[in-house]
Amino acid sequence: MNFCGKTVYERALCEMLDRSKNQLLTQVGPGTPMGDLLRRYWMPVAGVSEFEDKTIKPVRLLGEDLTLYKDLSGTFGLVDRKCPHRRADTSYGFVEQCGLRCNYHGWLFDQDGRCTEQPYEDVSAPEARFKDKVRIKAYPVETRAGLIWAYLGPEPVPLVPNWEPFTWKNGFVQIVFADVPCNWLQCQENSIDPLHFEWMHMNWSVRLDEKLGPYSPRHLKLEFEEFDYGFVYRRIREGMSESDPMWTVGRVCLWPNALFTGDHFEWRVPVDDEHTLSVTWAFSRVPKENELYVQDRIPAWHGPVTDAATGSLISSHVMNQDFVAWVGQGVIADRTQEHLGTSDRGVLMLRKRFLSDLEAISKGVDPKAVIRDPETNQCISLPIAERKLLTEGLTREELANHPIHGRQFTEGYPFQQGQPKEVRDAFLAAMGVGPAPK
Ligand code: FES
Ligand SMILES: [Fe+2]
Repeated sequence: MNFCGKTVYERALCEMLDRSKNQLLTQVGPGTPMGDLLRRYWMPVAGVSEFEDKTIKPVRLLGEDLTLYKDLSGTFGLVDRKCPHRRADTSYGFVEQCGLRCNYHGWLFDQDGRCTEQPYEDVSAPEARFKDKVRIKAYPVETRAGLIWAYLGPEPVPLVPNWEPFTWKNGFVQIVFADVPCNWLQCQENSIDPLHFEWMHMNWSVRLDEKLGPYSPRHLKLEFEEFDYGFVYRRIREGMSESDPMWTVGRVCLWPNALFTGDHFEWRVPVDDEHTLSVTWAFSRVPKENELYVQDRIPAWHGPVTDAATGSLISSHVMNQDFVAWVGQGVIADRTQEHLGTSDRGVLMLRKRFLSDLEAISKGVDPKAVIRDPETNQCISLPIAERKLLTEGLTREELANHPIHGRQFTEGYPFQQGQPKEVRDAFLAAMGVGPAPK
């Protein structure tokens, strides 16, 4: 297989043994090529429900320290962590009817970055209108699907994608965060790595359970295919026929920084070169008996990555196992030391696409999967292997007996450790198998 192309970025891929090329793909700060590329996309940074009991949250995104706030009128804003007056930390400020006020000398800023009040200057020298000459860095913020999204890129601002599952009814949705201490790219390369499922999740879990087997059916065939919004990967494992949805439909590496499995999204949000915010949006279809179910709030919770008692990475839950792999690859994986095999074809395709996207933006062209057409964005359909189950639902008994979805009825949330009891209770109530939360 020859991945060498003609462009400077494609040539870079062929020379990945060069440390500088690894840096090119992993650096996300302002002014870096990949930082510029990733700024062309909306990033989920927090849950809307987090702002029920607070008004301000410090956020670090793409190497920038920012303050996310919800003012008294309910408007969200995202501004520089540093006040432009004398650099106080705006995350210790307080919100007003419109905007965020710095707690040091009271300068007030709105969501567009305008300075709307300078209490002393407005009295001592009103004619100078000093406030009109000062701005704070501010970025657009939108809410969708219970998430707060931020856009740090150039204008014109694209649309926040309205992925099809965001429009589904009769679902219990939860949002789950984790702070992962490593670079985002190795996390995203996991989104196009079907083989790890067999070893990291299935077989390792057997061994963690102190059993020697049996191991899970082996992967026999893998295919990777690009489409408008990312890549699809398809697999055949022992005992599977080619009519299986895992082969006919597959799973999605969603562009530029997510995995989509049908019932959940996992974004790998770059915090900076050495940290990633893992954001999961998980949809659980309620049983047919509970239709029409309308969720009154989408809970957001934050799970630990390390065990407080031992300091070791947690390995008991699916995503925690992924975190073990990502963190284990090093703070920034040293790709100069890799030995890629045929199972890694998808990883190479992903890197190649990022390199051609870098070239696209250098020519003023939109990179892959930037969405600007409102009609397209009414509802963006994606490949979904279990579409019928998720959109039409099952009876409670069928759901409880389902080999994957039924586990949550009895075992709790299997994907990440730390689900709070109130979220578990709300989930069980939505499924009609537990008491309604107080
Ligand atoms: S430092 Fe913010 S108002 Fe003075
Ligand atoms: Fe995984």
